[in-house]
Amino acid sequence: MNMKYTITTPLYYVNDKPHLGSSYTTIACDALARFQRLSGNSVLFLTGVDEHGQKIERTAESKNLDPQIHCDEITERYKYLWDKLNITYDRFVRTTSSEHISLVHQFYSRVLESDDVYMGRQSGWYCVGCEEYKDIDDNEKHPICSIHKKELEWRDEENLFFKLSKYQKQIEKLITIDGFISPKSRKNEIINFVSKGLRDFSISRVNLKWGINVPGNKDHTFYVWFDALLGYVSGSLREQNNPELTDNSLCNWPANIHVIGKDILRFHAVYWPAMLISAGMETPASVFGHGFLTREGQKMGKSIGNVLDPIELLEYGGIDAMRWYLLRDIEFGEDGDFQLRRYVDIVNSDLNNTIGNLLNRTITMSKKWFKDSIPINNPSSIQSQLKKISEVKINEYMKAFQENNFKNAANSIIDLANNANLYLNDRAPWKLIKDISNKEIVAKDIYSVLESCRLIGILLHPIVPDLSTRILNQLKIDSSSLEFENTLQWGLLNPNTGLADPSPVMDKIELNESAI
Ligand code: MSP
Repeated sequence: MNMKYTITTPLYYVNDKPHLGSSYTTIACDALARFQRLSGNSVLFLTGVDEHGQKIERTAESKNLDPQIHCDEITERYKYLWDKLNITYDRFVRTTSSEHISLVHQFYSRVLESDDVYMGRQSGWYCVGCEEYKDIDDNEKHPICSIHKKELEWRDEENLFFKLSKYQKQIEKLITIDGFISPKSRKNEIINFVSKGLRDFSISRVNLKWGINVPGNKDHTFYVWFDALLGYVSGSLREQNNPELTDNSLCNWPANIHVIGKDILRFHAVYWPAMLISAGMETPASVFGHGFLTREGQKMGKSIGNVLDPIELLEYGGIDAMRWYLLRDIEFGEDGDFQLRRYVDIVNSDLNNTIGNLLNRTITMSKKWFKDSIPINNPSSIQSQLKKISEVKINEYMKAFQENNFKNAANSIIDLANNANLYLNDRAPWKLIKDISNKEIVAKDIYSVLESCRLIGILLHPIVPDLSTRILNQLKIDSSSLEFENTLQWGLLNPNTGLADPSPVMDKIELNESAI
């Protein structure tokens, strides 16, 4: 059945160019979006940038740039990288766009109508990097942000507050719904946080020019998180010009999944749903908080300065290597440490050796013994053991993707490829073919392995779309409009198809410690 599926990445701060951490979330979302499309669902994949707030204002100031010009420049870099990484987003939200600003105003008036805003005073320790007040004792001397490793700033100002506490019961109920927060460990963390009692939070700032003005309070601009979370709604508006926030103006809302890093879970699992309930809107179906990519054990971050440049990594190993490593090696939900040697080993072993060589040597044999083609046979009669294995592996793969478990999905593909390699080695068609009476048996064997390669090519598509296309091209299969439903059955590889000369689908990467 065709269903709608809406997936979002966070809207990335434009304080600096994108790094590997932001690429990680976006690649993961792209894999999920592609998987859903292949499953026949109608997908809205939304990404974008978060452009307001003190962090951005200060960065622009330090570069002597008008903030808008600074934002435009960095935004282009994000778009450029997403193109390079073959990210298939449908909408790109900018929080400085006039449509978004109008949406924020309309949403705010709904929250006002619910009587959920009041003027108060906020004091406490603030991290500009997180754009967040921290739960730290007022009397602490020179506290440091545990994420950004920078000194917190003392703030004491008049702000507008949102009545989060009013939604305690609704939020308690929401966060315990099965599947709303994943992985489990993060769910417990939020349940614990909410059980301490929700406190109202400030949604405006004074003395901050670089933000959306609050109607009726001329010295105030919206708190950057209040503004940014609404980007998910402005990106879901059917009509992007002169948007009106009505019950019918949104397409594909609510989001099926917000994919975010673990540091911004509270905003998404607690503050955001409460804001939506206040405005009379539906809450998202789920929030997935993934772990941090670390390098030398430390979170990779723009403020810390230990970032790995995704463009450099791309130039070094290519897009398939980068996407494969991030999704195959790191448990989605857990932290993962980037190690160059491991990167090279995994990519070479899985993609170049296990999959690439399998395809290459089987095509070579097929061409040589079967007139440049896939062996002629009656595919449905081939009850190869690979057929059974592929069915098991396809099921495992489906289950893994439904649980956002890329590692298991990738493993099931590799298992299938390993089995096909073992099968080939066991059967040794190069020996069998020496006796011409074995030709039919060899035809069946070669067909079974090529058919496994076809399935591998399709299953790889969400994770490494470029490599998937190259594999399918070698088998003369059009990969432009694939769907699982009519491609994943055993025996669909068309016999009699001419095969092109085999060419390596994945180059080996040489280890070069100084490359990145
Ligand atoms: N602008 C906010 C999000 C607003 S969403 C309405 C923001 N932006 S961010 O650019 O700082 O971070 C975006 C995402 O990147 C977050 O989910 C964060 O967890 C993730 N990452 C930042 N550094 C990361 C790593 N080193 N590793 C993995 N993800 C990381 O927060």
